[in-house]
Amino acid sequence: MSSPASNKPAAASAGRAWLRLTREERAQLKRRMGPALFQERLLREDTRELKMGGLFRWCPMRWLNPIARAGLHLTGLWKAGRRNYLDIRVREETFFLPGLPAAFDGFTILHLSDLHFDLDPDFPDALAQTLETIRGRYDVAAFTGDFNNYTVHNSTLAVRLTARLLREHISAPAYGVLGNHDSLRDIPSLEEAGLRILLNESVTLRRGRDTLLLAGIDDPNIFQTHNLRAALSARKPGQPVVLLAHAPSCWREAADQSVDLVLCGHVHGGQICLPNGRTIPWRNWKFPAAVRRGRWCEGTTQGYTTYGAGACGIPIRFFCPPEAVLIHLRQGGKAAFSAGRLPSGGGRQSAA
Ligand SMILES: [Fe+2]
Repeated sequence: MSSPASNKPAAASAGRAWLRLTREERAQLKRRMGPALFQERLLREDTRELKMGGLFRWCPMRWLNPIARAGLHLTGLWKAGRRNYLDIRVREETFFLPGLPAAFDGFTILHLSDLHFDLDPDFPDALAQTLETIRGRYDVAAFTGDFNNYTVHNSTLAVRLTARLLREHISAPAYGVLGNHDSLRDIPSLEEAGLRILLNESVTLRRGRDTLLLAGIDDPNIFQTHNLRAALSARKPGQPVVLLAHAPSCWREAADQSVDLVLCGHVHGGQICLPNGRTIPWRNWKFPAAVRRGRWCEGTTQGYTTYGAGACGIPIRFFCPPEAVLIHLRQGGKAAFSAGRLPSGGGRQSAA
């Protein structure tokens, strides 16, 4: 695979991406999401774009990135951090779902998140190499958002790279949700490339007469334009549900709605952690530490917050390896929950 021509964001003068949507596409997205949430999402995207391209271009964060890069080069940490960033592992996790039909016992989902494809030109090849080692080992692929890094300027590169990934390295039907770095305007291109975006929607996966509902919500964290009730509206009584969400902010709501399994990302496992693997408390998260990474459960709802495959802002990682996750679903009775505690012996991680 050749490297992308450039990983630089296009100039703001390239225009606001929403101009790419045709009238028909706008009408279709509005219908799928509901007029209120559709308008709200676009309004918040535009507000964010204006901030990033306007006065906020003088924001200290804009200056911190090059300073951090220079500091890492000077201290010799840049090479190691970037090596870690490109060393994408395969993790395998098994979840026992009490209501899982027999036909879905052993069903496997490839969970990918936070690719931030336009951050570094070497990332697409690194991810492709990892995915080739697990080709054919999963039944569906699930993307939990943040395809972009340079969100607001122009998402053409990230969408093009996602399309290539789907075409050349994903060996199963693909579904996904958007993250806080993505735009509604990306949806027509992503769907044309074969990635069905679940915009507070669901699809029914079938095996013989048995079914599993795969639902997805819009970003519940930054944009907060999610609607879990709408996403679950097609659920049949007793039907198991796997929910895709960009961030684990929906953990309590998902438990209230008796979702069986939540797959999410957003946190990157901390991206830069301490040598003992603990996260650096450099920001206030809107959700508890227990759901920020790895396996978690709330009531009868289980969840997995992936460390993500890519990185945001700066292409480095420390003590927190990037991952592609194979989620294995198994039939399990009530005993598997053991009063709300997860079954043991689920996870393992291996070098790809
Ligand atoms: Fe992210």
